[in-house]
Parts: sequence; C-alpha cells; structure tokens
Amino acid sequence: MGTLVIDGGNKLHGAVSVQGAKNGALPVLAASVLGGRSVIHNCPRLADTGSSVEILRMLGCEAERDGETVTVDASRVPRCDIPPELMRRMRSSVIFLGAVLARCGRAVVSAPGGCELGPRPIDLHLKAMRLLGADISESRGLMICECAGRLKGAEIVLPYPSVGATENAVIAASTAKGRTVLVGAAREPEITELAEFINAKGGRISGAGGEVVVIDGVEALGDCEHTCIPDRIAAATFIAAAAATGSELTLRGAEPEHMTAVISAFSEAGCRFRESGGGLTVTAPERLKAVRFVRTAPYPGFPTDAQPLLAAALAFADGVSVINETVFGGRFRYLRELAKLGADVKYDGSLAVIRGKPFLTGAEAACTDLRGGAALVAAALGAKGVSVISGTEHIDRGYESVEAAFAAAGAKIYGNVKNETAHAGDRFREASGV
Ligand code: EPZ
Repeated sequence: MGTLVIDGGNKLHGAVSVQGAKNGALPVLAASVLGGRSVIHNCPRLADTGSSVEILRMLGCEAERDGETVTVDASRVPRCDIPPELMRRMRSSVIFLGAVLARCGRAVVSAPGGCELGPRPIDLHLKAMRLLGADISESRGLMICECAGRLKGAEIVLPYPSVGATENAVIAASTAKGRTVLVGAAREPEITELAEFINAKGGRISGAGGEVVVIDGVEALGDCEHTCIPDRIAAATFIAAAAATGSELTLRGAEPEHMTAVISAFSEAGCRFRESGGGLTVTAPERLKAVRFVRTAPYPGFPTDAQPLLAAALAFADGVSVINETVFGGRFRYLRELAKLGADVKYDGSLAVIRGKPFLTGAEAACTDLRGGAALVAAALGAKGVSVISGTEHIDRGYESVEAAFAAAGAKIYGNVKNETAHAGDRFREASGV
C-alpha cells in the first residue's frame, strides 16, 4: 500500500503544470482501436492509461509510450476479448466495448472496475449497443456482444447524460452504416475531445458538447495526431490545495473555459482567479468563506469529481457549507477520513454538511477512492502538523505525481513510501527534521 506523508500548514507558491486529462485520454485510447495509426500527445502517465495500453496490446494492436506520447497502430486487431483481470482494473475498460464491437463485429468483456462510488450499472451502454444492432448475451460473467457485419445507425435516447454511455455510443456509431442521432448526450469537454479525435481520423461527428450528437458512420478510419486536453479535475485539485492553505498558485496549461462551475464555487468561497498567458492563477484568502449550497450535476454543472476537493477546502472555511451529491450514491465515504484530521463533517444520503474550522490537525487517514484521496491530500496540506495518508494507489490512478507537483510548489510532502505507515512517518520526520 502506498503512503504519502505531509507536513502541512505551509503556504504553497509558484506554478504547477496541469497534466493531460485522464478522462479524455481513456476514451481516446479506446477509440484508437477503430483503425489506423494514432499519435496521442499529452497523454498522462497514470495507472489507468497504462491499463489501456495493456488492453490495446492484448487486442493485438501495437501500442508504445514515449514520454507523454502514446502511439497506437490498430491496422490489425486480431483479438476481440478482454480478460476480466484487465476489465476490473478501471471503469473505462467498458469503453473498449463499442470500439472492439465496431472494429471486429464481436466483443467479449466482463463487468468493469473503477472507484466505488455507489452502484455503477452499464445498462445505458448496453442499450446503446443493442440499438446499434448488437446482439448481447451473458454467460458465466462474460458479456458476448456480436453484430452481423457493420453496426447500423439508429436513434438513441439516453434518459441520463452518462459520460461513459455517450462515449461508447459515439465510438461504436462512428463506423456504423448510416446516421446515428444521440439524444440526451453528456456534454463534458472530454466528449468534445473524443469527437475531435475521431473526426481527425476521418469520422463525421457533429454536435458534440451539446445534447444532440449526430454521427454519420464512415466505412473506415485512418491515421491522426491528437493532443489531450488539460485535466480540469487535476486543476481543481490544485485550486483546492491553494484554498486549503491560503496560497497563491499558478496552474500552467489549465483551461478555465472547462471549469466555470468550479471557479464559480471557489470564488464564492473567497478565492480570486486571474487568467494569464497559458495559465490560471488562484489567490486564496487567509480564511475561506462557507459556500451555502453546492449541487453536483452533469457538465456544465458542478462536477461530482470536484465535490470531495471542494469539501476538503470548505473544512477550513468560516461558516457552514452544504453539498448535495446528485451523480453518485456513495461518494461521501471519504468524509469519515477527512474527519480524522478534525474536520466537522456530517452526511446523510446525498447531503453533506461541513462546519468549517479555523484549522485542522495532521492525522493518519486512508484514501477511499481517487478523488476522495486527492481531497485528503489537499486537506493535509492545509492541516497543522504531520499527516500520513495511506492507500495512495487510488490517487495514482488519476494523478501523474501529486507529491512531485506539490513539492515543486513548496509543500513538505514525502511520497510513495511503501512501508508501514508509522515507519513512513518516522522516515519523514528524520528526513525533514520535523
Ligand atoms: C465518468 O464516469 C468519469 N470517469 C467519472 O470520473 C465521473 O465521476 C463521471 O463520468 C461523472 O462525471 C471517466 O470518464 C473514466 P456516468 P462514468 O456514466 O462514465 C449512472 C474520476 O474520478 N449510470 O456519467 O462511469 C451512474 O451509476 C471518475 O475520474 C447508469 O445508471 O459516469 C451514475 O450514477 C470517477 N447506467 C451516473 O449515471 C449506466 O449505464 C453517472 O455516470 C451508466 C451510468
């Protein structure tokens, strides 16, 4: 189990670089199966993108990473089954379903893994595949999806704008016969990115980023070069850390247009934002103000992925904040761990109440999931004294290196200690003279 040791209560300063977006890179990597050679720049080096590369190789594609660039050659895709062990590693393994089915006419997959955030069904993914003409049967935990020849364009109405189901439908429809009209699509910037990637390969997708996406299927897709968009949730993590520590921090490469709701919530808490050549600078007040009520919602609403990050910062605010989580049923588990640092937090169902305190105190706490783990790091950076955060492999799934990024911004953070937590604390104290 990985551990981070943080001597908090110090201000951050300077600039940090925002990595390429995990949730943009993963569907792009899956869509590369559709054909041709894809050169994907700014692809973050994460456990999850590593798993995608493993899946691509398992399918018989050539996939190589050189620094931040991943090159995929999908001129041949001889296999159409993804072993359960690889499916379980992350939620995004399910996005390979549409890509493999469209490319091979058959896909054999099992239930995907990913963070435990409450029930995460894939009924909408399967509904979209069926409407596109796939025949899906289940046997001993495996889903066998088949179609005779190419998939067929269809009208697909999603009752909820699921990000993953939208991605699967867009990918599968891109080489289907005829036109697909996807109504009720998710509007996240990562969907727009995916459509741009497929269009650069010769696809014909319009309307991505809106509620109705029209996909005119093409027979085959070719080569392209693509640069992943900046990670808006990694950027929100830096904002939360700046807010929790009362710091000024510049986020190099952040895209404020993708972060309107996040910027608005942190502004309400008293942070100021300034756009400067290729970056965004956040200046936090000495003490944040409470934010009366924030509700998570599909984009362009306040992102559920940033909910734990905002809560961590509000634990230091003056007053009572209320957060309503509407996207995932089980996304407050991290609050119990935040309470170990002294945060006054209560939750019931979809509501969390955070009574801000002037300071939190370093403690031992465990990551429950990716963003919950990142929230603990932000809180520990602001808390007085030493925190030992365990289970950091959750964080590694989504961040290139939080410890390197925060250390560069002046944080006393000692990372990726694999030993027992107490031992890690001793080593840190010795190393830092705390
Ligand atoms: C994506 O997950 C992101 N993951 C999540 O980020 C993010 O929290 C989520 O979108 C919402 O923004 C990736 O992009 C890899 P959904 P996804 O399908 O696609 C229900 C992170 O921390 N639903 O939009 O799985 C579902 O249960 C991760 O980076 C169905 O009911 O999200 C949930 O309540 C965590 N049936 C809601 O929709 C379905 O078939 C939203 O899920 C699909 C989803």
